[in-house]
Amino acid sequence: MKGLILVGGYGTRLRPLTLTVPKPLVEFGNRPMILHQVEALAAAGVTDIVLAVNYRPEVMVATLKKYEEEYGVKIEFSVETEPLGTAGPLKLAEDILKKDDTPFFVLNSDVICEYPFKQLADFHKAHGGAGTIVATKVEEPSKYGVVVTTPDGTGLIDRFVEKPVEFVGNRINAGIYILNPSVIDLIELRPTSIEKETFPKLVQNKSLYSFDLEGFWMDVGQPKDFLSGTCLYLSSLTRKNSNLLCSPNEPYVVGGNVMVDPSAKIGKNCRIGPNVTIGPNVVIGDGVRLQRSVLLDGSRIKDHAWVKSAIVGWNSTVGRWARIENVTVLGDDVSVSDEVYINGGSVLPHKTISSNIEMPSIIM
Ligand code: GDD
Ligand code: MG
Repeated sequence: MKGLILVGGYGTRLRPLTLTVPKPLVEFGNRPMILHQVEALAAAGVTDIVLAVNYRPEVMVATLKKYEEEYGVKIEFSVETEPLGTAGPLKLAEDILKKDDTPFFVLNSDVICEYPFKQLADFHKAHGGAGTIVATKVEEPSKYGVVVTTPDGTGLIDRFVEKPVEFVGNRINAGIYILNPSVIDLIELRPTSIEKETFPKLVQNKSLYSFDLEGFWMDVGQPKDFLSGTCLYLSSLTRKNSNLLCSPNEPYVVGGNVMVDPSAKIGKNCRIGPNVTIGPNVVIGDGVRLQRSVLLDGSRIKDHAWVKSAIVGWNSTVGRWARIENVTVLGDDVSVSDEVYINGGSVLPHKTISSNIEMPSIIM
């Protein structure tokens, strides 16, 4: 089978992290976001994966080529010279996606869930339509595409409304599709939106169905949701008794859902959790308190610091007795001086912060 992952866009909503690393390579649960998808596609029997990119392909090629062997898949890069939106990239990769007449998967690169590819393929085959969208329920549907189905219970979609201004429903497009190759014939090679142009055509042809997702789902393309998504992901690992998590018997673990890379060093008398991921080469001092946070590769948290709801970027340092909270995001190589307080700061790479940031703000 084949799959295409939409990897374009500049990931501006995940700045300052995406100033250093393209969004799909930002580590989620200690692995590049996109690897969760590559792994799940491979597990469902996908052998050909197209990465549709328009931004810094070199970095991604270098990082992802090495996973081809690990997952037993062929990863091809389809590089746009201008951003082609969410549908144009399908046309650009037509040769690969149409190389046989089996349906192919399409994914937004920033969605995290327990990808139900096998069940999705079975459902799609059974209804016989041209496409199936995975749908999930959310409380705030206005920032997504909303799916309304016909009352007959078949899953046939009656309306698809991208980013509705008025309430239409709360079942939304989870950013995961399976489409027949014929759908590509509806798409022109130009910047075009699958949500605004292609789906409405399929709805009109009564050929687009929706499949309900079970379990958690999150678009982790912005810091607040990245942290919420991390909590959901870690909880799902706890439910599965995954050995990716630390044992709750570790003396520093509080409340579970803690993931620590084996190369990280943790000092004495720390309290860590719930919902924390600690990346490779991280060094944590003594008496540190961490909750609901993500510490990326090479970051350092010094003695007695207090970190809550924060993403600490690669090689950044949080000083002794410092306190950072409320969706604070430190970019690459940021230094927070000893005893400094940050409330919801978004700090650009290579900055040193030596006075308090009392209110949420961007520090350039
Ligand atoms: N190759 C390529 N080229 N990819 C692109 C481009 C482009 O020009 N523009 C966006 N993408 C990719 C993004 O990287 C992302 O993986 C995906 O397309 C969707 O773009 P987002 O910018 O993340 O869209 P969104 O989050 O506002 O909305 C989409 O996702 C929601 C679910 O999270 C829509 O599909 C909504 O309908 C959906 O509910
Ligand atoms: Mg998104």
